[in-house]
Amino acid sequence: MTNAFPSGCHLIQLCVKGDERGQLVAIEGTSEVPFAIARVYYVFATAPDAIRGFHAHRALNQLAVPVAGSCTMVLDDGRGRISVPLDKPAVGLTIGPMIWHEMSDFSSDCVLMVLANAAYDEGDYIRSYGEFLALART
Ligand code: TYD
Repeated sequence: MTNAFPSGCHLIQLCVKGDERGQLVAIEGTSEVPFAIARVYYVFATAPDAIRGFHAHRALNQLAVPVAGSCTMVLDDGRGRISVPLDKPAVGLTIGPMIWHEMSDFSSDCVLMVLANAAYDEGDYIRSYGEFLALART
């Protein structure tokens, strides 16, 4: 493990509009997210001890936001790994292309929302860690 975030990966503080009624985060256009949003998906009701991900994307950019609960994201650029706790509903983690990522430690109430800059495309996935390492190190 390392302390450095890999290229294309960083934490983003989203703007929270709060008042005595509670909190609200709005994500609009490219003002909050560093890419145009083409897709939103979210994982929830994750099984205890489940580990998700285990892939990298060739070109996709994503922003993962734990809108409820918490989980851990491991990021791997082929040279080192960093483990990032995701536990604040107004702090998202960008995941750039060619980053192997694994998600674990899901709290039972975790809802992990992911914004992406392209439609789902299985051809963009690298699901073999060996293939990922070979590509990442070239
Ligand atoms: P999968 O890639 O295994 O999820 P994770 O990376 O969280 O482990 O995706 C699970 C299933 O959902 C798989 O059949 C592909 C499908 N899927 C879509 O249809 N659209 C999407 O946007 C995503 C992310 C997955």
